[in-house]
Amino acid sequence: MTVASNWTPESWQAHEARHLPRYEDPAALAEAEKTLASYPPLVFAGEARALKADLADVANGHGFLLQGGDCAESFAEFHPNNIRDTFRVLLQMAVVLTFASKRPVVKVGRMAGQFAKPRSSDTETQGSVTLPSYFGDNVNGIEFDPDTRRNDPQRMVRAYSQAAATLNLLRAFAGGGYANLRQVHRWTLDFMGRSPWADKFRDVADRIGESLDFMEACGVNPETLPQLERTTFYTSHEALLLPYEQALTRQDSLTGDWYDTSAHMVWIGDRTRFPGSAHIEFARGIGNPLGMKCGPSLEPDDLLRLLDTLNPAREAGRMTLISRFGHDKVETGLPRLVRAVAREGHPVVWSCDPMHGNVVKSDSGYKTRPFDRILSEVKGFFAVHRAEGTHAGGIHIEMTGQDVTECVGGAVAITDEALGDRYHTHCDPRLNAAQSIELAFLLAEMLNLEAQARPAAAA
Ligand code: PEP
Ligand code: CO
Repeated sequence: MTVASNWTPESWQAHEARHLPRYEDPAALAEAEKTLASYPPLVFAGEARALKADLADVANGHGFLLQGGDCAESFAEFHPNNIRDTFRVLLQMAVVLTFASKRPVVKVGRMAGQFAKPRSSDTETQGSVTLPSYFGDNVNGIEFDPDTRRNDPQRMVRAYSQAAATLNLLRAFAGGGYANLRQVHRWTLDFMGRSPWADKFRDVADRIGESLDFMEACGVNPETLPQLERTTFYTSHEALLLPYEQALTRQDSLTGDWYDTSAHMVWIGDRTRFPGSAHIEFARGIGNPLGMKCGPSLEPDDLLRLLDTLNPAREAGRMTLISRFGHDKVETGLPRLVRAVAREGHPVVWSCDPMHGNVVKSDSGYKTRPFDRILSEVKGFFAVHRAEGTHAGGIHIEMTGQDVTECVGGAVAITDEALGDRYHTHCDPRLNAAQSIELAFLLAEMLNLEAQARPAAAA
C-alpha cells in the first residue's frame, strides 16, 4: 500500500466525528493517550498483511471469511473460560464451513478490543433520571449510576490490558494444540449428541469424521503434519473510539506504512461511514485490512466514493463490505450495491452480518433477534450473490461460546419468556454456542450449493 496523501494518525480530528465520547477533562484524556502511545503494539504489521493476503484469496472467490464474537466485550465477562469457549465455537464453525466450501476459512474474532459502541441516543432516561448512555466499557460503565456513566479515559488503558491478555490466550490456543482438528470435531460430535436437529446435520458431521479417518489411515495426523493442531486466528473490532486507535497507530519500520496495531482488521460502522467522516479519514491511512458496514441507507454512488477513498489502489483483501440490511430488505437492497461494485471492478470481500438489521423488542421487553430472521437474511444474501454471479464471501456474527438466552429460536427453541434466564450481553443479543454451530451447519448447505455450482476449472 502506498502512504495516503495528506494523512496523519491525527488528521481525522479535522473531520466530522459522530459517536465519539466527550471527555470532561482534556488533560486526563491526553494522559491516557500518552500512556497508550508508549505501550507495545498488540499486533504486528506483517500479521495484518498476512490477513490481507488471506482476504485477497476470499475476494477472488477462493475462501470464506468467518468473523464473530461479542457485540461488546466487557470488563465483567473477562474470563479465560469465556475466551476459550468463544474461540472453540468459532473453530467448530470453521471446520464445518471448510468442509462444505472445500475452501480455506479465514477466522477473525470480534475479540481482544471490541469494546466501544455507537448509540442511537447520547442519553438514557430511567424514570425521572437522565444519564449519559453506555458507550462500551472502554468509555464508561453499564450500571445506571452518575459516577459509572461518566466517561473515563483511563478505561482505554484497562481495555488495552484486557485486549493484550485476551490476545495472548488466543495466540496460545491457536498455536498450542487446542485447535487440534480431531478434537474440534469431537466437540462437534458431542454437540450433535445433544442437538434436536442432529439428524439434519448428521451427514455433514459423518463425512467430516470419515475424512479425518481416511487421513489418519494415510498417516496424516498431528505428529506427521503439525498444521493439524494449529490454526491461524486474527482479531478485529470496530475502529470507533478514535483516540484509542490513534494512540496504537504506528509506522511499520519495514515498509514505512502506518498500521493500527490494536487489531489485525478494523471496521467502520454503519453510522460512521458517511463520506467525509472522521472514521473514514482515519481508516484511509492505515494499512490494515478494513471492513465497512453497508446498511439500507448506503447509496451505490456513496459506496463507490468510499471505496475510492479507502482503497484507491484497488488492492484485493483491503476491503470487506459487511452488508446488514435485515431479513426483509437484503434481497431488494443489496443487489444495487453488488452491481455497482462489480461494474467498477473494485475487488472486495462481500460478507453478511445477519444480526444488526434484525433486532426486535420482545414482548418481555428484551432486545432480541429471532434465529429464523438471521437465517433468512443469510439465505437472501446467498441468493443475491448467486443471481449476480458474485462470491458470497463471509459471515459476520455476534456470538458467544456461553449458553446464554439472548436470541429467540434455534433447535432448542429459546422462547420469549426464557430470555431473562441468562441474558448477559452488554449490548446486542448474541447467538449462543448451540445456535452458532447450528448456523454453521445451515450455512454449510448454502456453501455446498455454491461449491456444486462452481465450474470444475475454477474449483
Ligand atoms: C456492530 O457491529 O456492533 C454494530 C454496531 O453494527 P452496525 O455498525 O452495522 O450497526
Ligand atoms: Co452489535
